[in-house]
Amino acid sequence: MRLAVITSNPGKVEEYRAALSVLGIEMEHRRFPYMEPQVDDLNEVVRHGLEELRSQGLQDFIIDDSGLFVESLKGFPGVYSAYALKTLGNNGLLRLLDGQEQRRAEFQCCIGCSRDGMPDIVVRGSCQGVILTKEQGEGGFGFDPIFSPDGERSFAQMGTEEKNAMSHRGRAVQALAEALRESMEG
Ligand code: IMP
Repeated sequence: MRLAVITSNPGKVEEYRAALSVLGIEMEHRRFPYMEPQVDDLNEVVRHGLEELRSQGLQDFIIDDSGLFVESLKGFPGVYSAYALKTLGNNGLLRLLDGQEQRRAEFQCCIGCSRDGMPDIVVRGSCQGVILTKEQGEGGFGFDPIFSPDGERSFAQMGTEEKNAMSHRGRAVQALAEALRESMEG
């Protein structure tokens, strides 16, 4: 089986390859912009994306949508994470939490997979942690320097493998691998 990963972020494709190649699934990176509706649920964004891309003739593909949900900001930036990162950046988000002791946050990732003639698979993964008080580390991307699962080391201070073992996307990819394995065996 061959699946296209539709994303502008090549880092995501490597995570998929690592988890899905053991099932004999080949991954191919494709960029194909699609509209993301402004709704407050990642599943809805993904289900809408699957429909839209199918209506444009795409088959056998994966998309994903992630967000960082900060508890004391009532879940912001959540589904607006890409926009918040572009406009506020990590330092802007840190300023919103200035003086705030309760810094719990959750990363969420929702993956949708469309295969010709098969029901859609939609799975999720999450990772609990905290927003640090300053950026830490040089690796990763996006919010990685300010998010830490244990309150000490940020995602940006971990190697890809270590991050994937506990990250929202790593967990969602594992759930996808499981669902694909079941559907291939069944
Ligand atoms: P996307 O819609 O899945 O691309 O993610 C929304 C925003 O969250 C983007 O600006 C990403 O950079 C950021 N983001 C998604 N996943 C991660 C992650 O694993 N670490 C840090 N930032 C992330």
